[in-house]
Amino acid sequence: MIDLNELQRRASEELAACADEAALRAWNSRYFGKTGEVLVALKAVGSVAPAERKSYGQLANQIKESLSSAYEAALAREKERALERSLATEKLDVTLPGREFSRGRLHPSTQTLRLIQSIFAELGFQVFRSPEVEDDETNFGLLNMPPHHPARDMWDTFHTTTPGVLLRTHTSPGQIHIMRKLCPRPIRVILPGMCYRYEQITPRSEIMFHQVEGLVIGERITMADLKGTIVAFARRLFGLDRQIRIRSSYFPFTEPSIEVDIDWPKDDPNADRLTKGTGWLEIMGAGMVHPIVLRNGGYDPAKYSGFAFGMGPERITMLRHAIDDIRLFWSNDLRFLKQF
Ligand code: DAH
Repeated sequence: MIDLNELQRRASEELAACADEAALRAWNSRYFGKTGEVLVALKAVGSVAPAERKSYGQLANQIKESLSSAYEAALAREKERALERSLATEKLDVTLPGREFSRGRLHPSTQTLRLIQSIFAELGFQVFRSPEVEDDETNFGLLNMPPHHPARDMWDTFHTTTPGVLLRTHTSPGQIHIMRKLCPRPIRVILPGMCYRYEQITPRSEIMFHQVEGLVIGERITMADLKGTIVAFARRLFGLDRQIRIRSSYFPFTEPSIEVDIDWPKDDPNADRLTKGTGWLEIMGAGMVHPIVLRNGGYDPAKYSGFAFGMGPERITMLRHAIDDIRLFWSNDLRFLKQF
């Protein structure tokens, strides 16, 4: 039978003699490791004669408890001593340069989106979102483009394998969602989000990009409101010395329709290539909401009118920072992203 009292005396003496943390840890594995003496003594209870088994077991457990709490206390004391030693002997050099930590940042498109949202918030617009996966009817049909309407060719479309389900080619279907949600109340919203087009990727066009749709509906809304809103927005965004050009255009969901251009910095060597020699870059399409679209949203065109616009924040970011290639936005090149 193991002599428990001898074990305790020896272990306590050795513990008291440990001079540093390494010695303490070695002591611990000697007595409490997998084959440590204390654990072996505990397991030995099975081989003790039945009459003495109870008192042996109790003593073994007591010894285990007291040795392990003595060990924890000694370890804590040793750690404190080590800290005091290092404080007393090591010097802190406050003149060393700090360690730089790398901070993330917002993607340039996100920065522009937030800026656009804050400008429209000042103009009293709410922000809504609508789905990126749409049905053919909402992306085209309800926007006054029935099947086989030639204007559908303006948007090269990613179709899914489910017939009639596609990736939205523009944020305009959001107009239908929001009208049906808010009708007959007046509307003043923007709908930011990602759009997808099955297109050749060039310095000016990508297969995925953001748009910010705008929609205002009420009584007696006119083209003057549209023009005033767009000019106020562009002046806030680009400053007072950028030129704004408004041209007449065609979209099936607006009548009349316009397009809005901003002048590209003339001293930029890429100006010609990007603006196709015109000096202007298109940033949005817009117009007065077509009566058929109003009706599809639930509004009576005899009583209500409205305007809508759709702009490209990546194009706007390009203008703000003279970025000459839209492909940089999603290529995940840190050398580009870190500049913003
Ligand atoms: N949805 C159009 C596009 O993707 C842009 C647009 C034009 C939106 C006129 C409008 C609008 O709301 O009125 O090219």
